[in-house]
Amino acid sequence: MLKTPLCHQIGIDYPIFSAGMGPAAGPELTAAVSNAGGCGVMGGLFLPPPILRQAIHKIRSLTDKPFGVNFVLTLLQPGQIEVCLEEQVPLLVLFWGDPSPYVAAAHRHKTQVFSQVGSVAEAIAAHNAGVDAVIVQGIEAGGHVKSRISLSTIVPAVVEAVPTGPVIAAGGIATGRGVVSALSLGAQGVSMGTRFLCSTEAAVTDAYKERVVSSTAEDTVYTTLFDVGWADAPHRVLRNTAFAEWERAGRPAHGQRPGEGTIVGTVPIAGTMMEVPKYAAIIPLTDFQGDMESVALYAGESCSLVHDIKPAAQIVRDVVQEAEAAIANRCLEQVATMRLKQTAN
Ligand SMILES: Cc1cc2nc3c(=O)[nH]c(=O)nc-3n(C[C@H](O)[C@H](O)[C@H](O)COP(=O)(O)O)c2cc1C
Repeated sequence: MLKTPLCHQIGIDYPIFSAGMGPAAGPELTAAVSNAGGCGVMGGLFLPPPILRQAIHKIRSLTDKPFGVNFVLTLLQPGQIEVCLEEQVPLLVLFWGDPSPYVAAAHRHKTQVFSQVGSVAEAIAAHNAGVDAVIVQGIEAGGHVKSRISLSTIVPAVVEAVPTGPVIAAGGIATGRGVVSALSLGAQGVSMGTRFLCSTEAAVTDAYKERVVSSTAEDTVYTTLFDVGWADAPHRVLRNTAFAEWERAGRPAHGQRPGEGTIVGTVPIAGTMMEVPKYAAIIPLTDFQGDMESVALYAGESCSLVHDIKPAAQIVRDVVQEAEAAIANRCLEQVATMRLKQTAN
């Protein structure tokens, strides 16, 4: 019932994508979403080409369904896209940059390219570059945020500007009702980050997941504070001690912030233990050791709708079930209204 043309385009049952969330969205989460009928997207960020290849092989050992790999183009490493194309990854999801240099080569390898955008102009440019779909992000989104406006405004604006689409909505969606709302705005699918961050398979600490579950939209803030490693890129995070101290200090500029330059933890990335400086654009990945209050806790306003940590397949099932029930209820309401009108006449 929930199928849209985009499902046929990718070969999936439900128009539900998990967001690439860097190392938090590893092979296990990706495969679990795909096996449940959605499309899992692995975060390729930070993975050097040989490790990226192993991760793609791992996904393939866990599922034979379509999946994607996500890259942040400003942080792209040489050889990453090439590995994906050699491995004939079904889908590349690109963010924070111009997708046009990659589209022709991807299509030659039968890889589709989706571009996550934050404005109508960016959506038109991506569409003209030949991408296979645009993921339209609203300012409600967790993680790095391209958009300056709400999802309910930007999705219909992009659908109007790029009528052949297809458009996927991202930001603030964590439930079946959210899916139905996105479809009614003209989207053909949704991409969810925060909801899947609170899945059993997401590769972040339980403390971070629990913090997201116990937070509401009001606990999130749109800021540029956590800029070490990725400057000038607004993001939505949970307000933590680092944010509160910076505010109390009068919001000083980069370089003059409380505790700037100190190491606040360590985290394994691509098999190597890395030191994490205060204000790093790094989240508490699994095996993070240190002070969670000093690093970015990316989360979207959708944390208001996330009340539990559960397997990704269950998330897909629950969201689909709720969306189908919401559509069915709407149909029943319409039939009842028509009957009432007929009786009145
Ligand atoms: C923890 C986290 C990490 C993220 N990392 C990335 C990333 O590496 N690449 C990317 O394209 N988007 C990333 N995003 C943004 C998502 O693609 C998406 O726009 C966002 O999650 C949608 O909002 P939602 O969190 O309310 O679902 C991240 C989001 C979160 C919550």
